[in-house]
Amino acid sequence: MNQETKINLHLDRVLQPIESASGLPNQCYTSNATFELDRDHVMADSWVCVGFGSDVPESWAVPVNFMGYPILLTRNSDGQLRVFHNVCSHRGMQLVTEAGRLGTELIRCKYHSWAYDFEGNLKGTPMIGGTEHNTHKDFDPTVNGLKPIRSEVWMDNIFINLSNNAEPLNDFIAPLMNRWSKWINPETMQELSPGIGAKMELTVKSNWKLAIENFLEAYHLPWVHPGLNSYSPLEEHYDIDRGENFAGQGSSSYSTPAGNTGTISSWPESERNFAEYPVLYPNTLLGLQSDHFFTMTILPIDETTSLERVQLLFLGDVATDDRYKEHRASMVDSWTEVFSEDIFAVEGMQAGRQSPAYQGGVFSPVMDQHTLHFHQWVAKKLAAHS
Ligand code: FES
Ligand SMILES: [Fe+2]
Repeated sequence: MNQETKINLHLDRVLQPIESASGLPNQCYTSNATFELDRDHVMADSWVCVGFGSDVPESWAVPVNFMGYPILLTRNSDGQLRVFHNVCSHRGMQLVTEAGRLGTELIRCKYHSWAYDFEGNLKGTPMIGGTEHNTHKDFDPTVNGLKPIRSEVWMDNIFINLSNNAEPLNDFIAPLMNRWSKWINPETMQELSPGIGAKMELTVKSNWKLAIENFLEAYHLPWVHPGLNSYSPLEEHYDIDRGENFAGQGSSSYSTPAGNTGTISSWPESERNFAEYPVLYPNTLLGLQSDHFFTMTILPIDETTSLERVQLLFLGDVATDDRYKEHRASMVDSWTEVFSEDIFAVEGMQAGRQSPAYQGGVFSPVMDQHTLHFHQWVAKKLAAHS
């Protein structure tokens, strides 16, 4: 008997039309068993954003705990980023525990000092053949390197695909890029780069899915974001046409809160006030505006705690020049304010999932279509493994 059957998630109720559907039940937000199902079935089969390229300077190794799995990000002196399982092939010691520069580009295990290069090759096995011998005829180092994880970088977001089964990242992103092609294309995306100092983090006491669900709808705007709603009201938001792997909101009244610093060159002047906020399932929240771009990745810590990491990308000099330092800080502050306003709602939903009177709830047939779409996307991933 598999775990889904034992827990009985009633996924059939989630897969109904919106008028009669229930949401995912409380167990999907409160139990460690479903947290592991999320990791191994919902996340592992997809492209998951685990951090930003700017987290990993050249010759650095950066450990990340992804839902309990120790993983390792490295970047060699040629700028090549790689992702590995962060575990020594010998006795299974976690290899790297703190981010830092490794000038020799050798990752040395602290237990018996085996050493790996940034390509994952096992380069040193001191005394493996006895105190006088660093090799042994029965041990082949070439098959005992670090175990790589499939990875790709897009818009400085480091995506991993643990199962190795997902479609190529470009294909995964293509429907969204097609949607955005009237504003931006792969070439003009290069005009954007990570802003220096333009990152922030929020810890939220909720299951990761609630943070996703909250981002998917604008319904809460008048009550949770009265400030934002005063200049970008709910009536001027729209549901973007859902793709297989994304959904979200658009606004037709975006204006930069920190002053004009230019526009992406392919973006038509007449549409400068449009902005879109899709979730690339499962955990990558995006914001595309005519003057900047952001990513928020939701990193689940445990079933009731999530880390939200945000990075803003800006145009040309605005990303890097000291003259724009205040502008960048002001943009980070204004997004932090908006995202912080959501925390009480997301944490309140988590608290509500302790109630036996609630088992998934109901949906507004108009305002909650994306929320149900995400629930169904998750439910299908879980059901595929049941
Ligand atoms: S566990 Fe790493 S060298 Fe032994
Ligand atoms: Fe919100």
